[in-house]
Amino acid sequence: MNVNQQTVISDELCERFRRARRVFVLTGAGVSAESGVPTFRGGGQTAAWKGMPFDKISSAGMLERNLPEVWEWFNYRRDVIEKIEPNAAHHAIARWQQRFPDFTLVTQNVDGLHEAAGSKDVIELHGNIWRARCISCGAKYNLRDKERAAARDFTCAECGNYLRPDVVLFGEMLPVGALDRAVVKAKSAELCFVVGTSALVYPAAGFPEIAKAVGAYIVEINPEPTPLSDLCDEVIQGKAGEILPLF
Ligand code: APR
Repeated sequence: MNVNQQTVISDELCERFRRARRVFVLTGAGVSAESGVPTFRGGGQTAAWKGMPFDKISSAGMLERNLPEVWEWFNYRRDVIEKIEPNAAHHAIARWQQRFPDFTLVTQNVDGLHEAAGSKDVIELHGNIWRARCISCGAKYNLRDKERAAARDFTCAECGNYLRPDVVLFGEMLPVGALDRAVVKAKSAELCFVVGTSALVYPAAGFPEIAKAVGAYIVEINPEPTPLSDLCDEVIQGKAGEILPLF
């Protein structure tokens, strides 16, 4: 389908985009789909590892029972993502950061592709697959550090305890700082984009509701309808990598 601006973006949205100063963007796995990162849901199947559903292998319970298995899953995901480039959607969002005086990007993704596309100060609700942290002293390590990643050395240099992926696992709380910052920004947004999320996981799916409550104009970009679609002022059914560059 030939996607052009006239066909998908209303005059109202064009005007609001032109005038906006405070813009809030929430992204999910769908924004990385065109880069080749499998989504968790959507398209009918859910991701699995060695026959284990992703929400089992990526859980606090699994971390307690079998940390090496959790690392194997996250090493596999990092190896996959390492070969992947950000797509046109990531690049468009990075450009928006330069355009709007008050721009907030909140992502549920742990793939680091927004940063790879040049986005700064991204609010990472669910952590980042390129970081590890000590389960005891909390010291953080950059896994883009080839030596450490290659050595698969997951012990803390500070206290000698085990490192774990610095990712929010199922059954775990979100990093408080990230959550608070996102709520504050959602409460002052004029224009809110919801891109590539099934809007099934809270508190992330709650931010557009917070923005709506303060009068923000809500735009969803997703090939499929979601539980948030009815709340939105505009729903653009399409792929993020095709739609976002049109703005
Ligand atoms: N462009 C835009 N949206 C897309 C695209 C695309 N090219 N391809 C798929 N989508 C949409 C799907 O229709 C679906 O609604 O992206 C959404 C992906 O949904 P999920 O897989 O549920 O991902 P997400 O919403 O990010 O999941 C939230 O749940 O599994 C946990 O911690 C994990 O962060 C994740 C959270």
